[in-house]
Amino acid sequence: MARYEKEDFKRNMKLRLNFNNMMAQFVGEKGIKEEEIAALAQSIEAAEQAMIEKRKNGGMDWRDLPYNQEAVVDDILHYVEEVKDQFDAFVVLGIGGSALGPIALQQAINHPYYNELPREKRGGYPKFYVADNVDPERLAYLFETIDPAKTLFNVTSKSGGTSETMSQFMMIKELLEERLGKEEAAKHIVCTTDAVKGNLRPICEEEGYKSFVIPAGVGGRFSELTPVGLLPAAMAGIDIKELLAGAAYMDQLCQEENTYANMAYMYAILSYIAMQQGKNIQVMMPYADSLKYMSDWFAQLWAESLGKKFANDGSVVHAGQTPVKALGVTDQHSQVQLYAEGPFDKMIVFLGVDQYRRTLTIPKIYQEIPSLGFLGGATQNQLIQTEQMATEYALLKAGKMNMTITLPEVNEFTIGELLYLFEVATAFAGELLQINAFDQPGVEAGKNATYAMFGRPGYEEVKKELEARPQPEPKYII
Ligand code: PA5
Repeated sequence: MARYEKEDFKRNMKLRLNFNNMMAQFVGEKGIKEEEIAALAQSIEAAEQAMIEKRKNGGMDWRDLPYNQEAVVDDILHYVEEVKDQFDAFVVLGIGGSALGPIALQQAINHPYYNELPREKRGGYPKFYVADNVDPERLAYLFETIDPAKTLFNVTSKSGGTSETMSQFMMIKELLEERLGKEEAAKHIVCTTDAVKGNLRPICEEEGYKSFVIPAGVGGRFSELTPVGLLPAAMAGIDIKELLAGAAYMDQLCQEENTYANMAYMYAILSYIAMQQGKNIQVMMPYADSLKYMSDWFAQLWAESLGKKFANDGSVVHAGQTPVKALGVTDQHSQVQLYAEGPFDKMIVFLGVDQYRRTLTIPKIYQEIPSLGFLGGATQNQLIQTEQMATEYALLKAGKMNMTITLPEVNEFTIGELLYLFEVATAFAGELLQINAFDQPGVEAGKNATYAMFGRPGYEEVKKELEARPQPEPKYII
């Protein structure tokens, strides 16, 4: 029996949300009162109903991903087993929801210097890269670092048409075909895309690329638990079954009807009230390097899902809360000054860890210098945890709302929980805000403008509109 199937393992790995410091009782007058939560009872009830209805009616297919992917997981694991020894490097070509999850998961689970480890210390898996930008310098440097002839490229695009990803794909395809010939080149490309929609699917079929499917009802930023995240994870030796088990466990916890005991709902409710109070910024500050890119992944989820001009009834609301990424303790020496003494325009979410995967003890030297000697004999683990607690306290003293999610350890199970928790919290916040958390017209406007400027057929009107935009005033350019 795998550890993630055992009830005591699940209980021991349960995430905790401590929101004491969000409450007025602790943080003072700028905090949230229980009466404010009680006053939202009707909206909360409506949001809960909407969550249930949408799940039932196929409006939230990402919620079922922990349960319905047995065959997909098998396919991924077989494929990985078959190809992993053939390649020195694995490169994800994707952007946004097709890249941030793979980066976050790799950083969370694997060694921070993974690519520098000898292959056997990587469990025999290839080196891992994500090319999520079209910066020519970065991509060119990547080509100088890897040998494309020994690399597997995972082209990931839900829409199968995103310019950034497709431009990378086009370059890679040409390069591989020139070097290896068409037939061999095809073995170096694996695609993750929609089953039918977009350009990538027919290309896969025609070129004979191995491919995986992103289910139709799962949008980009909610797709980390589909092959978008599962394939790169498995290709880096991450236990994807345990990841999904962690997500399934969080799903159970999110069924809790008592709002005060439902982590995801409470996270959303507190954030919603904070937004109503003008806290337009949500800082995420993990106290673990391994969770640094979780903040990046979360930033997209929270920003792109909740940042909406229109409410469901068509009224203009300009909803949303700006996610800011920080890292403990590093940012204690930069941003925390602002958080403590600056405006009351933000709430801070700490991510903490009970048990780090390594312990480092500070030697008992310089005992004759009291201002250094006091550190001797303590562990860095104690230091980071104490600094986290001290920052929470400093913010509390300054009357600044903050809450903490604690992971008993960072492992596949707890990361599965965390991903799922944030997804449910985001969807629930969308219901409270009465906006559509699953579209992204603002992102698409930018994509369309790029297509138009490059002369993509069908975008002639957008091009005309763009060309008619006001021209820059030279006096404002210095
Ligand atoms: O969440 C989203 O839908 C977006 O951020 C997409 O993930 C991003 O634009 C990439 O799109 P695609 O996967 O279609 O290439």
